[in-house]
Amino acid sequence: MSSVIIKPSSSTLRHPPGPKVNWMTGTVSRFQKNPLGYMEQLVQELGPAVRFRFFAHFHGYIFVHPEHNKHILQDNNKNYTKMPHPSFVILRPLAGNGLLTSDGEFWRRQRRLAQPAFHRQRIASFGQTMTQAAQDMVERWLNPNRNSPTLDVEQEVSRMTLEVAGKTLFSKDLTREANKVGQAFTEVSQEIVKLTSAPFGIWTIRMPFVPSTRRILNHTAVLDEVVNGIIQQRRQNPDVHHEDLLGMFMEARDEETGAMMDDKQLRDEVATMLIAGHETSAVTLGWVFYFLAQYPEVREKLELELAQVLNGRLPTVDDLPRLTYTYQVIDEAMRIYPPAYVISRWGQGADQIGGYDVPANAVLTLSPYLTHRLEEFWPEPLRFDPERFAPGMEQTRPRHAYIPFGSGPRQCIGNSFALTEVALTLATVCQQVRLELPANHQVEMEQLITLRPKNLHMRLHPRSKS
Ligand code: HEM
Repeated sequence: MSSVIIKPSSSTLRHPPGPKVNWMTGTVSRFQKNPLGYMEQLVQELGPAVRFRFFAHFHGYIFVHPEHNKHILQDNNKNYTKMPHPSFVILRPLAGNGLLTSDGEFWRRQRRLAQPAFHRQRIASFGQTMTQAAQDMVERWLNPNRNSPTLDVEQEVSRMTLEVAGKTLFSKDLTREANKVGQAFTEVSQEIVKLTSAPFGIWTIRMPFVPSTRRILNHTAVLDEVVNGIIQQRRQNPDVHHEDLLGMFMEARDEETGAMMDDKQLRDEVATMLIAGHETSAVTLGWVFYFLAQYPEVREKLELELAQVLNGRLPTVDDLPRLTYTYQVIDEAMRIYPPAYVISRWGQGADQIGGYDVPANAVLTLSPYLTHRLEEFWPEPLRFDPERFAPGMEQTRPRHAYIPFGSGPRQCIGNSFALTEVALTLATVCQQVRLELPANHQVEMEQLITLRPKNLHMRLHPRSKS
């Protein structure tokens, strides 16, 4: 089939460069095979701004320079919404119109309602639950009756972060539901990601009789059962006041009408928090354990810090300011494998980004993964080196060269929650055990809704407490 080079359609507009593509299908087949790999190749060949074509007339844009991130997510954020970007349209059956997918005044109101649940003091009060969940996990691992020589680390940490999200945000113990939620979420993620790069994904998702959509709805129904269980349990005891996120949502009233959130909206917010609040932290922990196994000198330095600060006792939130190297390790793992590897936006009006013209109704893709690998800001980007985040290093590069939690008003609301949870878990686990990769064992990167380590099966080595 013939290929053409996309040229600017008008001599007055300045478009970002684009790849050679099939004249009819554009870049569809390349995206379907390996979306992130193809975007990485485009950025390497064409630079940090790329325009590509889906089919004959649809254009998409990739912007990964820190200045682009700053412009889109912060300076001109009002021009950039989530809907109707195809990724968010396809996410709708799962996340509904919750905090992650809603826009405008409605989103602003919901964000204001949720914010108090994530204040610094509230998060500090979650510390004990987080450390205890990590300690329970270590004890399960060290149980002499455990009958497998290796641990499925991603599954283990995912179970733990679900438990923490359930207890802290909804005052509900979800340990019994963990396997069901984990499996349904993995399967629905696979379907959603496939549909996102499929030619007719945004139409297909509206057709419940299409097999892929039916599978998405079936997996979502499994998650809904858990979400509705959380809400129903709370409704059964209406007189008990809970100061958690669910309590804030359930007691909130519209400033003008006094109306409370209806069941559908409550479902969407709880489902969003459950999904966004456990999978991302689990993925971060998985990658940190992976890197610690690959870089023994980093692990030793981390263990030394833990011994000096904690001297063998379990960590509390008061210890966190002194665990500086622990945070450097987490930051560096999220640089190389940011759990949220793409950030999607819909450009409402025409704009200029980095000197390029972008028309109204543009489909934009930003990527922490690609930004974090730009040589200009991250020399030898594939080398795992926590010293990049040593005190004072942040000031040596632009703020938007590192965006694992996004930026601007839509920045992750769970940022401090996640970092506290990951740091406390690492401090608890690494004092007591080492996780090793069996020789020649390949861990792969799986592009789901998050960037997950696949086949993270590790061997456990107990350490004597220092
Ligand atoms: C390491 C862990 C995490 C990472 C890397 C992460 C990453 C992100 C990113 C990049 C965004 C912005 C998306 C965008 O701009 O389109 C986001 C939004 C969000 N995150 Fe997180 N997240 C993490 C943990 C959490 C946790 C623990 C929670 C809740 C407990 C959470 C809840 C949310 C919500 C509700 C939003 C939407 C916020 C809004 O639009 O107002 N995240 N997250």
